[in-house]
Amino acid sequence: MKFKDRLLNRSAAKRTRLILALDVIGPERSRISRAETILKDVKESVAGVKLNFHLLLPFGLNGVKRLITFCSREDIPLIADLKLNDISSTNKEVARQLIKHGIDAVIANPVTGLNDGLDELVQLSHAGELGLILLVYMSHKGAEEIYGTGQKGLYLFFAERAKEWNADGVIASAKSDSIIRKVRATIGKEIMIFSPGVGVQGGEARKPIEAGADFIIVGRSIINSSEPGVMAERYKAESYAK
Ligand code: XMP
Repeated sequence: MKFKDRLLNRSAAKRTRLILALDVIGPERSRISRAETILKDVKESVAGVKLNFHLLLPFGLNGVKRLITFCSREDIPLIADLKLNDISSTNKEVARQLIKHGIDAVIANPVTGLNDGLDELVQLSHAGELGLILLVYMSHKGAEEIYGTGQKGLYLFFAERAKEWNADGVIASAKSDSIIRKVRATIGKEIMIFSPGVGVQGGEARKPIEAGADFIIVGRSIINSSEPGVMAERYKAESYAK
């Protein structure tokens, strides 16, 4: 089943729109086992899990095998947050490695363009082999300096490309309802919106969903909590409330 269908099916079945950013830091010796403990605590609350450099850089895809196996057993879609930004041949090899190791989707930067850039990733996404999520508007404080530039906002140009290339999803900051609304109006109903920036970065859980996002991405507010399971349950409930 395609990444998008798996994610939406799980979201509906578990009644959650939470994507956990599994950004575990601290002593490397225990990082994987701590990540595994968190996954066990939150598994019923999450629609999907996002892996970032916190784990992928020190351990690589082979080193996170236990986590991938756990998610695969629990049918939790896994997203690699590489913000991939390279030429086609390199992107193709990255995608091959991700697919081989059981990753379901990748986050990429649309700034590369399609021709000899994202074309391989777009084809793999259309073939159902690896989901593709494009950065449209980031959530950090400096995002406006770049994503907000231009007469209509560079982010809407990226949103138009996401629509034209028929990506599986886009990233749009949880911190602005109006940006999410404009992105939704641009990409239509079929492309998923993932909203990071909830919690530590200041965004609320409910607002982006009401503005048209499909999922919130939450990391530190859950990972660094003394009770990740309780926090994840709270975000699950907030994200899915009618
Ligand atoms: P926190 O701890 O802030 O973590 O909840 C958020 C996670 O998402 C990543 N992040 C982003 N990823 N576009 C992305 O693709 C964004 O705009 C963005 N903002 C945050 C961040 O690296 C962390 O893994």
